Amino acid sequence: MHTITLHEGGTFHSHKGKVEHSDLIGRPEGSVVRSNTGTAYVALRPLLIDYTLSMKRGATIVYPKDAAQVLVEADIFPGARVVEAGAGSGAMSSWLLRAVGEKGMVHSYERRADFAEIARKNVERFYGGPHPAWKLTVGDLVEELDETDVDRVFLDMLAPWECLDAVAGALIPGGLLCCYVATTTQLSRVVEELREDERFYEPRSWETMLRTWHVEGLAVRPDHRMIGHTGFLVVARRLADGVEAPERRRRPAKGAYGQDYEAARAAAGGAAAPAAEVAPAAGAEREPTAQESPAQDSAAQDTAAE
Ligand SMILES: C[S@@+](CC[C@H](N)C(=O)[O-])C[C@H]1O[C@@H](n2cnc3c(N)ncnc32)[C@H](O)[C@@H]1O
Repeated sequence: MHTITLHEGGTFHSHKGKVEHSDLIGRPEGSVVRSNTGTAYVALRPLLIDYTLSMKRGATIVYPKDAAQVLVEADIFPGARVVEAGAGSGAMSSWLLRAVGEKGMVHSYERRADFAEIARKNVERFYGGPHPAWKLTVGDLVEELDETDVDRVFLDMLAPWECLDAVAGALIPGGLLCCYVATTTQLSRVVEELREDERFYEPRSWETMLRTWHVEGLAVRPDHRMIGHTGFLVVARRLADGVEAPERRRRPAKGAYGQDYEAARAAAGGAAAPAAEVAPAAGAEREPTAQESPAQDSAAQDTAAE
């Protein structure tokens, strides 16, 4: 797949020849054009999934299979008031905005100004200008969060546990926090700190594996390659103020919080340890997947799919 922006007088070049943009401009989507060497291309506008995978990237994006899970499992509904951090490259912001619609609100926080600028450009390019429901703040969520009565919070960052107090203050009773983390150590820490916080009901955690299939005649089988790992999702609901969560029905396994657990925690500096002491150094910020990387730098308006 190639993603290009059409303009009068432009030419698309690849090792399979060239296509004049004027051969496409004015023709309906789904048209077929040929390069000067005879290669056929089907021309389509990018879906949001195509756009997020091909747009310019600062930080690693939420992979589409996970974005789909967030929208459903975090119950992002039209009109919802959503807080998000970090905005990164703006991929999840784009999905959230589409789900909440113009009458909802997505307030994205990003502490790196350069990433925030990439996110802003990506979102505005897809929506054809500033989205009426979007607010982008450059700064750390913990210091800057000024929203209250928020329905949903989505955190995609190295140390979401650092934000729990601020998030608990912003969410309505029954509101939902969803965290996206790359490694098991992050997963463990955010879940345990959600439990310790006591303002959230028992968190749920999972990962999603997507296996695509080759379907041709009698050759119907899973594809040989798949994306092995992207990240884990955790969701937890905000309890009302002053209530105590009912005891968990399934007790922790004997030894789950035994000596080994306590020793590991103490070595990591306990629950209040700064992120740097326990955050895994390698792979904690997600690496781009094989499928994500090829078209990384070509921002898109229109797609010509071979
Ligand atoms: C993996 S990226 C987010 C990608 C984004 N969800 C997307 O789909 O494009 C993580 C981002 O979180 C930002 N970040 C980390 N901690 C933050 C915090 N406490 N407040 C605001 N932004 C934060 C980082 O600067 C980084 O850009």
